[in-house]
Amino acid sequence: MDDKRYDFDQVIDRHGTGCVMVDRCKEMFGREDVLPLWVADMGFAACPDITRALVERVQNHPIYGYSVPLEDYWQSIIDWQRERNGLEFTQEEACFIGGIVNGFGLALNHFTRPGDKVVIQEPVYHPFRMLITGNNRMVVNNGLRRTADGFYEMDLEDLERVFKTEQPRMMVLCNPHNPIGIAWPADVQRQVAMLARKYEVVVFSDEIHGDLTLKGQHHTSFLTVSDDARAVGVVMGAPSKTFNIAGIVSSWCVVKNPDLRKPFFHQLEANEQCSPNFLSMTATRAAYRHGGEWLAQCLDYIEDNIDMVVDYCRDHIPGIVAIKPQASFLVWLDCTGLGLDHDALSDLFVNKARLGLNDGAMFGKSGSGFMRLNVAVPRSVLRQAMQQLAEAVKSL
Ligand SMILES: Cc1ncc(COP(=O)(O)O)c(C=O)c1O
Repeated sequence: MDDKRYDFDQVIDRHGTGCVMVDRCKEMFGREDVLPLWVADMGFAACPDITRALVERVQNHPIYGYSVPLEDYWQSIIDWQRERNGLEFTQEEACFIGGIVNGFGLALNHFTRPGDKVVIQEPVYHPFRMLITGNNRMVVNNGLRRTADGFYEMDLEDLERVFKTEQPRMMVLCNPHNPIGIAWPADVQRQVAMLARKYEVVVFSDEIHGDLTLKGQHHTSFLTVSDDARAVGVVMGAPSKTFNIAGIVSSWCVVKNPDLRKPFFHQLEANEQCSPNFLSMTATRAAYRHGGEWLAQCLDYIEDNIDMVVDYCRDHIPGIVAIKPQASFLVWLDCTGLGLDHDALSDLFVNKARLGLNDGAMFGKSGSGFMRLNVAVPRSVLRQAMQQLAEAVKSL
């Protein structure tokens, strides 16, 4: 048992490191003096075992040439997924992908043709829409539904209607769902799979947030729910969000059905899309072999941050409700109670509170009136952000 305590309170200045979160504020918000809590990476130092492995590799062997898979690279991914998520696969059923958005683009181009329809479930991670339209495919929205208790659920009747009437070729299951942080239950995914098989829709399940489920929650990989799911599913995941190594770019794809997998992987290989570089393999292997305790402590810290935000909004910010996620470090703030239109809400956050969050409207029209807050930052930073927000709302 590892009794080491990791330090998530340390504030690290990221300016000038070519980091999107801080170095793109002006472009994103029109000013540089906002506290940045938008892009989904963490303000914590990555797990030290990963840093150590990278430093050792670079220092001990100063040739950075072409790579083949490192010993234990694939096994570390396979073991982690089996032990954590009950997702079993062989190396033959998997391949490396250089980032999930990139991987989604590759899958989209392989499994659909220009003009084809692709289902997304708004409000949802905006690059899905951007890639679909950018590749001249058409977006069909099967919007999430608000539940009586203020959370969200999938509208399965509408999904069947969409499958039947729009005849899409592909669907994106954001699993867990960003920006709301829904850990989709197995029975919901089973119904998605059943419908997808019936209407011949490939399901792209993006499981990048899968290792970030919070207490009492469980990540269910799409490929574990049924034979239907294994027939239609293309799953991608990564250690990137889990261990705060998104900039290293290391993801993986698993497809069980050989009729989908073989032509897809053949195309990826033909275009040299699935060769990990030595740094991504070194980081991935160290993360999956040694990062478990760091992740456990990180998730505890994140959960305390989430609870702090939920309580703070309830007690000090009338008009804003923080919706507790089931997974991830992103908190969906329902600001509709403020009664502001889109521009006034944006002005409140950026110019009055001096906070840089993701505007909910970027995730789809149903996200209007909401903001997405990244809470994977030292608590002192988050406390400061909440105070700035409370003061700005008070001044309205
Ligand atoms: C659901 C989801 N998919 C994909 C990504 C990005 O993945 P990558 O950096 O591997 O392209 C993010 C990042 O926020 C995400 O939230």
